[in-house]
Amino acid sequence: MRTLRRITLSDYEIVFDEDLSFLSEFLIAKNYSQVIVLADDNTARDCYPILIKYLPQLADAPLIITPSGEMNKNLASCEEIWAKMLQSHADRKSVVINLGGGVIGDMGGFVAACYKRGIGFIQLPTTVLSQVDSSIGGKLGVDFRYGKNLIGVFKNPDLVLVSTVWLNTLEHRQVVNGFAEIFKHALIQSPKQWDSLSQIEQIPPVQFHDILFESLLVKKAVVEADPFEKGWRKILNFGHTIGHAIEAYSLENDKYPLLHGEAIAVGMLMEAYIGTLSSGFPLSSLAEMEAVLLRFYSHYNIPEGIEEVLWQSMLLDKKNDKSKVLSVVLKAIGEPDIDVEMTKEFLSKAINYYQRLA
Ligand SMILES: NC(=O)c1ccc[n+]([C@@H]2O[C@H](COP(=O)([O-])OP(=O)(O)OC[C@H]3O[C@@H](n4cnc5c(N)ncnc54)[C@H](O)[C@@H]3O)[C@@H](O)[C@H]2O)c1
Ligand SMILES: [Zn+2]
Repeated sequence: MRTLRRITLSDYEIVFDEDLSFLSEFLIAKNYSQVIVLADDNTARDCYPILIKYLPQLADAPLIITPSGEMNKNLASCEEIWAKMLQSHADRKSVVINLGGGVIGDMGGFVAACYKRGIGFIQLPTTVLSQVDSSIGGKLGVDFRYGKNLIGVFKNPDLVLVSTVWLNTLEHRQVVNGFAEIFKHALIQSPKQWDSLSQIEQIPPVQFHDILFESLLVKKAVVEADPFEKGWRKILNFGHTIGHAIEAYSLENDKYPLLHGEAIAVGMLMEAYIGTLSSGFPLSSLAEMEAVLLRFYSHYNIPEGIEEVLWQSMLLDKKNDKSKVLSVVLKAIGEPDIDVEMTKEFLSKAINYYQRLA
Protein backbone atom coordinates (compact mmCIF):
# COMPACT_ATOMS: atom_id res chain seq x y z
CA MET A 1 0.00 0.00 0.00
CA ARG A 2 1.51 3.32 -1.02
CA THR A 3 1.48 6.17 1.39
CA LEU A 4 1.00 9.43 -0.37
CA ARG A 5 1.52 12.80 1.20
CA ARG A 6 -1.81 14.53 1.52
CA ILE A 7 -3.12 17.78 2.84
CA THR A 8 -6.74 17.62 3.88
CA LEU A 9 -8.82 20.77 3.64
CA SER A 10 -12.46 21.28 4.60
CA ASP A 11 -13.95 19.56 1.57
CA TYR A 12 -11.11 18.40 -0.66
CA GLU A 13 -7.59 17.08 -0.59
CA ILE A 14 -4.26 18.02 -2.07
CA VAL A 15 -2.48 14.80 -2.90
CA PHE A 16 1.18 14.54 -3.85
CA ASP A 17 1.40 11.80 -6.41
CA GLU A 18 4.23 11.69 -8.91
CA ASP A 19 2.79 9.07 -11.27
CA LEU A 20 -0.84 10.22 -11.06
CA SER A 21 -2.08 6.80 -10.04
CA PHE A 22 -4.18 8.39 -7.33
CA LEU A 23 -6.01 10.34 -10.03
CA SER A 24 -6.88 7.13 -11.77
CA GLU A 25 -8.33 5.67 -8.57
CA PHE A 26 -10.12 8.91 -7.75
CA LEU A 27 -11.84 9.07 -11.14
CA ILE A 28 -13.07 5.50 -10.77
CA ALA A 29 -14.33 6.14 -7.25
CA LYS A 30 -16.17 9.32 -8.21
CA ASN A 31 -17.88 7.72 -11.16
CA TYR A 32 -18.21 10.95 -13.13
CA SER A 33 -20.41 10.71 -16.22
CA GLN A 34 -17.71 12.28 -18.36
CA VAL A 35 -14.22 13.68 -17.99
CA ILE A 36 -13.20 16.76 -19.96
CA VAL A 37 -9.57 17.82 -20.09
CA LEU A 38 -8.83 21.53 -20.39
CA ALA A 39 -5.34 22.63 -21.43
CA ASP A 40 -3.70 25.65 -23.00
CA ASP A 41 -1.63 25.35 -26.16
CA ASN A 42 1.60 24.79 -24.22
CA THR A 43 0.27 22.27 -21.75
CA ALA A 44 -1.59 20.47 -24.53
CA ARG A 45 1.78 20.03 -26.24
CA ASP A 46 3.97 19.32 -23.20
CA CYS A 47 1.76 17.92 -20.45
CA TYR A 48 -1.17 16.22 -22.16
CA PRO A 49 1.01 13.40 -23.62
CA ILE A 50 2.31 12.69 -20.09
CA LEU A 51 -1.24 12.63 -18.74
CA ILE A 52 -2.24 10.13 -21.40
CA LYS A 53 0.87 8.04 -20.79
CA TYR A 54 -0.11 7.66 -17.14
CA LEU A 55 -3.86 7.52 -17.67
CA PRO A 56 -4.41 5.99 -21.14
CA GLN A 57 -8.11 5.70 -20.36
CA LEU A 58 -8.33 9.49 -20.77
CA ALA A 59 -7.29 9.33 -24.41
CA ASP A 60 -10.98 9.18 -25.38
CA ALA A 61 -12.00 12.09 -23.16
CA PRO A 62 -12.63 15.39 -24.97
CA LEU A 63 -9.58 17.66 -24.86
CA ILE A 64 -10.37 21.37 -25.00
CA ILE A 65 -7.43 23.57 -25.88
CA THR A 66 -7.59 27.27 -25.14
CA PRO A 67 -4.95 29.90 -26.03
CA SER A 68 -2.28 30.35 -23.36
CA GLY A 69 -1.40 33.49 -21.46
CA GLU A 70 -2.95 36.03 -19.13
CA MET A 71 -4.30 38.01 -22.10
CA ASN A 72 -6.58 35.05 -22.84
CA LYS A 73 -7.90 34.65 -19.30
CA ASN A 74 -11.20 36.27 -20.16
CA LEU A 75 -14.89 35.71 -20.79
CA ALA A 76 -14.37 35.24 -24.53
CA SER A 77 -12.20 32.17 -23.81
CA CYS A 78 -14.79 30.93 -21.31
CA GLU A 79 -17.51 31.16 -23.95
CA GLU A 80 -15.46 29.04 -26.34
CA ILE A 81 -14.86 26.46 -23.62
CA TRP A 82 -18.54 26.37 -22.61
CA ALA A 83 -19.53 25.93 -26.26
CA LYS A 84 -17.14 22.99 -26.62
CA MET A 85 -18.41 21.43 -23.40
CA LEU A 86 -21.97 21.65 -24.70
CA GLN A 87 -20.89 20.14 -28.02
CA SER A 88 -19.36 17.28 -26.02
CA HIS A 89 -22.69 16.84 -24.18
CA ALA A 90 -21.10 17.37 -20.77
CA ASP A 91 -23.82 16.96 -18.18
CA ARG A 92 -24.03 17.94 -14.53
CA LYS A 93 -22.11 14.89 -13.40
CA SER A 94 -19.11 15.57 -15.61
CA VAL A 95 -15.81 16.85 -14.32
CA VAL A 96 -13.24 19.19 -15.82
CA ILE A 97 -9.56 18.41 -15.35
CA ASN A 98 -7.59 21.64 -15.46
CA LEU A 99 -4.20 20.75 -16.87
CA GLY A 100 -2.13 23.89 -16.67
CA GLY A 101 -0.84 26.79 -14.64
CA GLY A 102 -2.78 29.45 -12.77
CA VAL A 103 -4.49 30.74 -15.89
CA ILE A 104 -6.03 27.36 -16.70
CA GLY A 105 -6.77 26.63 -13.03
CA ASP A 106 -8.52 29.96 -12.38
CA MET A 107 -10.40 30.03 -15.68
CA GLY A 108 -11.19 26.30 -15.91
CA GLY A 109 -12.43 26.32 -12.32
CA PHE A 110 -14.64 29.31 -13.07
CA VAL A 111 -15.94 27.67 -16.24
CA ALA A 112 -16.82 24.52 -14.28
CA ALA A 113 -18.34 26.48 -11.39
CA CYS A 114 -20.78 28.18 -13.79
CA TYR A 115 -21.47 25.39 -16.28
CA LYS A 116 -25.05 24.16 -15.76
CA ARG A 117 -24.93 25.85 -12.33
CA GLY A 118 -21.75 24.13 -11.33
CA ILE A 119 -19.91 20.89 -12.04
CA GLY A 120 -16.81 19.52 -10.37
CA PHE A 121 -13.23 20.22 -11.37
CA ILE A 122 -9.84 18.76 -10.61
CA GLN A 123 -6.68 20.85 -10.52
CA LEU A 124 -3.56 19.37 -12.08
CA PRO A 125 -1.26 22.35 -11.60
CA THR A 126 1.67 22.32 -14.01
CA THR A 127 3.60 25.41 -12.86
CA VAL A 128 5.28 25.99 -9.51
CA LEU A 129 3.10 29.04 -8.99
CA SER A 130 -0.10 27.08 -9.46
CA GLN A 131 1.15 24.18 -7.33
CA VAL A 132 2.01 26.30 -4.37
CA ASP A 133 -0.48 29.11 -4.68
CA SER A 134 -3.33 29.41 -7.16
CA SER A 135 -4.69 25.88 -7.14
CA ILE A 136 -5.67 26.06 -3.49
CA GLY A 137 -7.87 28.51 -1.71
CA GLY A 138 -10.91 28.35 -3.97
CA LYS A 139 -10.47 31.65 -5.79
CA LEU A 140 -11.53 31.30 -9.43
CA GLY A 141 -12.12 33.79 -12.16
CA VAL A 142 -11.06 35.75 -15.18
CA ASP A 143 -9.82 39.22 -16.03
CA PHE A 144 -12.34 41.76 -17.27
CA ARG A 145 -11.97 45.15 -19.01
CA TYR A 146 -10.65 47.16 -16.06
CA GLY A 147 -8.34 44.67 -14.42
CA LYS A 148 -7.25 41.25 -13.29
CA ASN A 149 -9.54 38.68 -11.68
CA LEU A 150 -12.53 41.06 -11.54
CA ILE A 151 -15.13 38.42 -12.42
CA GLY A 152 -15.09 35.22 -10.42
CA VAL A 153 -16.33 33.06 -7.59
CA PHE A 154 -15.06 31.12 -4.62
CA LYS A 155 -15.41 27.37 -5.10
CA ASN A 156 -13.23 24.48 -4.07
CA PRO A 157 -12.03 21.79 -6.46
CA ASP A 158 -12.87 18.10 -6.05
CA LEU A 159 -9.15 17.35 -5.87
CA VAL A 160 -5.75 18.96 -6.35
CA LEU A 161 -3.07 16.58 -7.48
CA VAL A 162 0.51 17.78 -7.25
CA SER A 163 3.23 16.12 -9.26
CA THR A 164 6.61 17.45 -10.32
CA VAL A 165 6.43 15.38 -13.47
CA TRP A 166 5.21 18.45 -15.38
CA LEU A 167 8.06 20.71 -14.40
CA ASN A 168 10.64 19.30 -16.84
CA THR A 169 9.19 21.31 -19.69
CA LEU A 170 8.50 24.47 -17.71
CA GLU A 171 10.95 27.29 -18.49
CA HIS A 172 13.44 27.84 -15.69
CA ARG A 173 12.34 31.46 -15.40
CA GLN A 174 8.79 30.26 -14.66
CA VAL A 175 10.09 27.92 -11.95
CA VAL A 176 11.94 30.76 -10.22
CA ASN A 177 8.87 32.96 -10.70
CA GLY A 178 6.62 30.56 -8.78
CA PHE A 179 9.23 30.18 -6.09
CA ALA A 180 8.67 33.78 -5.02
CA GLU A 181 5.38 32.67 -3.44
CA ILE A 182 7.26 29.94 -1.55
CA PHE A 183 9.61 32.58 -0.15
CA LYS A 184 6.55 34.66 0.71
CA HIS A 185 4.83 31.84 2.61
CA ALA A 186 7.98 31.28 4.66
CA LEU A 187 8.43 34.98 5.37
CA ILE A 188 4.87 35.47 6.60
CA GLN A 189 4.42 32.28 8.60
CA SER A 190 7.41 30.00 8.85
CA PRO A 191 10.75 31.21 10.20
CA LYS A 192 11.88 27.59 10.16
CA GLN A 193 11.27 27.23 6.46
CA TRP A 194 12.82 30.62 5.84
CA ASP A 195 15.99 29.37 7.53
CA SER A 196 16.21 26.37 5.26
CA LEU A 197 15.29 28.40 2.17
CA SER A 198 18.03 30.89 2.90
CA GLN A 199 20.54 28.05 2.44
CA ILE A 200 19.42 26.89 -1.00
CA GLU A 201 21.85 27.35 -3.84
CA GLN A 202 19.61 26.72 -6.78
CA ILE A 203 15.98 26.71 -7.78
CA PRO A 204 14.48 24.19 -7.75
CA PRO A 205 16.47 22.97 -4.77
CA VAL A 206 17.12 19.27 -4.19
CA GLN A 207 14.59 19.07 -1.39
CA PHE A 208 11.90 20.58 -3.62
CA HIS A 209 9.12 18.15 -2.63
CA ASP A 210 9.50 18.85 1.06
CA ILE A 211 9.63 22.57 0.47
CA LEU A 212 6.50 22.49 -1.67
CA PHE A 213 4.68 20.45 0.95
CA GLU A 214 5.64 22.80 3.81
CA SER A 215 4.72 25.82 1.76
CA LEU A 216 1.28 24.42 0.96
CA LEU A 217 0.74 23.81 4.66
CA VAL A 218 1.19 27.53 5.22
CA LYS A 219 -1.32 28.44 2.53
CA LYS A 220 -3.77 25.82 3.79
CA ALA A 221 -3.65 27.19 7.34
CA VAL A 222 -4.19 30.74 6.13
CA VAL A 223 -7.08 30.02 3.75
CA GLU A 224 -8.80 27.79 6.25
CA ALA A 225 -8.62 30.48 8.89
CA ASP A 226 -10.23 32.96 6.49
CA PRO A 227 -11.75 31.24 3.43
CA PHE A 228 -13.46 34.36 2.02
CA GLU A 229 -10.68 36.85 2.62
CA LYS A 230 -12.31 38.90 5.34
CA GLY A 231 -9.15 39.59 7.30
CA TRP A 232 -6.27 37.27 8.13
CA ARG A 233 -5.94 35.94 4.58
CA LYS A 234 -4.63 39.37 3.65
CA ILE A 235 -1.23 38.24 4.92
CA LEU A 236 -0.88 36.42 1.60
CA ASN A 237 -0.67 39.87 0.04
CA PHE A 238 2.73 40.53 1.57
CA GLY A 239 4.87 42.00 -1.21
CA HIS A 240 1.83 42.45 -3.44
CA THR A 241 0.80 46.06 -2.71
CA ILE A 242 3.95 47.49 -4.25
CA GLY A 243 4.67 44.33 -6.25
CA HIS A 244 1.41 44.55 -8.23
CA ALA A 245 2.05 48.20 -9.04
CA ILE A 246 5.55 47.34 -10.28
CA GLU A 247 4.20 44.38 -12.25
CA ALA A 248 1.62 46.63 -13.95
CA TYR A 249 4.22 49.30 -14.65
CA SER A 250 6.61 46.78 -16.14
CA LEU A 251 3.89 45.25 -18.31
CA GLU A 252 3.09 48.69 -19.76
CA ASN A 253 6.62 49.93 -20.22
CA ASP A 254 9.22 47.19 -20.49
CA LYS A 255 10.12 45.30 -23.62
CA TYR A 256 10.55 42.19 -21.47
CA PRO A 257 8.13 42.69 -18.59
CA LEU A 258 8.66 41.21 -15.15
CA LEU A 259 6.70 38.08 -14.34
CA HIS A 260 4.37 38.21 -11.34
CA GLY A 261 6.75 36.50 -8.88
CA GLU A 262 9.68 38.62 -10.03
CA ALA A 263 7.69 41.76 -9.26
CA ILE A 264 6.60 40.32 -5.92
CA ALA A 265 10.23 39.68 -5.00
CA VAL A 266 10.86 43.42 -5.48
CA GLY A 267 7.67 44.23 -3.57
CA MET A 268 8.63 41.98 -0.66
CA LEU A 269 11.94 43.76 -0.18
CA MET A 270 10.31 47.19 -0.36
CA GLU A 271 7.50 46.26 2.01
CA ALA A 272 9.94 44.58 4.40
CA TYR A 273 11.90 47.83 4.42
CA ILE A 274 8.66 49.70 5.26
CA GLY A 275 8.28 47.23 8.13
CA THR A 276 11.57 48.51 9.55
CA LEU A 277 9.98 51.99 9.66
CA SER A 278 6.46 51.07 10.81
CA SER A 279 6.62 47.84 12.73
CA GLY A 280 10.07 47.24 14.13
CA PHE A 281 11.19 44.71 11.50
CA PRO A 282 14.89 44.17 12.31
CA LEU A 283 17.45 45.50 9.86
CA SER A 284 19.39 42.24 10.27
CA SER A 285 16.36 40.29 8.93
CA LEU A 286 16.05 42.74 6.06
CA ALA A 287 19.71 42.13 5.20
CA GLU A 288 19.04 38.38 5.18
CA MET A 289 16.12 38.87 2.81
CA GLU A 290 18.27 40.97 0.50
CA ALA A 291 20.94 38.28 0.39
CA VAL A 292 18.45 35.54 -0.49
CA LEU A 293 16.08 37.33 -2.84
CA LEU A 294 18.73 39.19 -4.83
CA ARG A 295 20.49 35.87 -5.37
CA PHE A 296 17.54 34.60 -7.42
CA TYR A 297 15.74 37.73 -8.63
CA SER A 298 17.93 40.22 -10.41
CA HIS A 299 17.68 43.80 -9.30
CA TYR A 300 14.98 45.69 -11.19
CA ASN A 301 15.90 49.16 -12.26
CA ILE A 302 13.07 51.36 -11.00
CA PRO A 303 13.19 54.46 -13.19
CA GLU A 304 13.32 57.89 -11.51
CA GLY A 305 10.00 59.66 -11.24
CA ILE A 306 7.63 56.69 -11.35
CA GLU A 307 6.54 57.11 -7.76
CA GLU A 308 3.29 58.83 -8.81
CA VAL A 309 2.51 56.11 -11.38
CA LEU A 310 3.02 53.41 -8.76
CA TRP A 311 0.95 55.33 -6.23
CA GLN A 312 -2.01 55.75 -8.61
CA SER A 313 -1.85 52.08 -9.44
CA MET A 314 -1.85 51.21 -5.72
CA LEU A 315 -4.89 53.43 -5.14
CA LEU A 316 -6.76 51.49 -7.83
CA ASP A 317 -5.99 48.13 -6.24
CA LYS A 318 -9.28 46.47 -5.44
CA LYS A 319 -8.16 45.34 -2.00
CA ASN A 320 -7.99 48.87 -0.64
CA ASP A 321 -10.29 50.32 1.91
CA LYS A 322 -11.80 53.50 0.40
CA SER A 323 -8.97 55.89 -0.31
CA LYS A 324 -6.44 54.34 2.04
CA VAL A 325 -3.79 52.02 0.70
CA LEU A 326 -3.41 49.20 3.17
CA SER A 327 -0.52 46.81 3.07
CA VAL A 328 0.99 43.91 4.93
CA VAL A 329 4.46 44.31 6.33
CA LEU A 330 6.52 42.20 8.72
CA LYS A 331 7.23 42.72 12.39
CA ALA A 332 9.63 39.80 12.29
CA ILE A 333 10.19 36.87 9.97
CA GLY A 334 7.05 34.78 10.32
CA GLU A 335 5.09 37.63 11.94
CA PRO A 336 3.05 39.81 9.62
CA ASP A 337 1.53 43.14 10.54
CA ILE A 338 -1.71 43.62 8.59
CA ASP A 339 -3.52 46.81 7.62
CA VAL A 340 -0.50 49.05 7.82
CA GLU A 341 -1.37 52.23 6.00
CA MET A 342 0.94 52.76 3.08
CA THR A 343 1.73 56.40 2.59
CA LYS A 344 3.36 58.15 -0.31
CA GLU A 345 6.23 58.91 2.01
CA PHE A 346 6.74 55.23 2.79
CA LEU A 347 6.61 54.41 -0.90
CA SER A 348 9.14 57.05 -1.74
CA LYS A 349 11.51 55.89 1.02
CA ALA A 350 11.09 52.28 -0.09
CA ILE A 351 11.94 53.21 -3.68
CA ASN A 352 15.09 55.00 -2.50
CA TYR A 353 16.01 52.03 -0.36
CA TYR A 354 15.54 49.58 -3.23
CA GLN A 355 17.47 51.74 -5.69
CA ARG A 356 20.43 51.75 -3.29
CA LEU A 357 20.55 47.94 -3.52
CA ALA A 358 21.59 48.09 -7.21
N1 LIG B 1 -6.57 31.78 -7.60
C1 LIG B 1 -5.59 32.24 -6.88
O1 LIG B 1 -5.63 32.24 -5.64
C2 LIG B 1 -4.37 32.75 -7.57
C3 LIG B 1 -3.18 32.99 -6.85
C4 LIG B 1 -2.06 33.41 -7.54
C5 LIG B 1 -2.11 33.57 -8.93
N2 LIG B 1 -3.27 33.34 -9.60
C6 LIG B 1 -3.36 33.48 -11.06
O2 LIG B 1 -2.46 32.56 -11.65
C7 LIG B 1 -2.10 33.04 -12.94
C8 LIG B 1 -0.62 32.85 -13.14
O3 LIG B 1 -0.33 31.47 -13.08
P1 LIG B 1 0.98 30.86 -13.76
O4 LIG B 1 2.17 31.65 -13.35
O5 LIG B 1 0.95 29.42 -13.52
O6 LIG B 1 0.77 31.26 -15.29
P2 LIG B 1 0.29 30.46 -16.60
O7 LIG B 1 -0.83 29.57 -16.33
O8 LIG B 1 0.09 31.53 -17.63
O9 LIG B 1 1.58 29.60 -16.97
C9 LIG B 1 2.78 30.25 -17.38
C10 LIG B 1 3.21 29.80 -18.77
O10 LIG B 1 3.74 28.47 -18.68
C11 LIG B 1 3.07 27.61 -19.62
N3 LIG B 1 3.07 26.29 -18.97
C12 LIG B 1 2.35 25.91 -17.89
N4 LIG B 1 2.76 24.71 -17.47
C13 LIG B 1 3.73 24.30 -18.32
C14 LIG B 1 4.55 23.15 -18.36
N5 LIG B 1 4.49 22.20 -17.42
N6 LIG B 1 5.45 23.05 -19.38
C15 LIG B 1 5.56 24.04 -20.29
N7 LIG B 1 4.84 25.18 -20.26
C16 LIG B 1 3.93 25.30 -19.28
C17 LIG B 1 1.73 28.22 -19.84
O11 LIG B 1 1.18 27.85 -21.07
C18 LIG B 1 2.08 29.72 -19.79
O12 LIG B 1 2.59 30.11 -21.04
C19 LIG B 1 -2.55 34.49 -13.00
O13 LIG B 1 -3.67 34.58 -13.84
C20 LIG B 1 -2.94 34.83 -11.58
O14 LIG B 1 -3.99 35.76 -11.49
C21 LIG B 1 -4.39 32.93 -8.94
ZN1 LIG C 1 1.21 36.43 -5.94
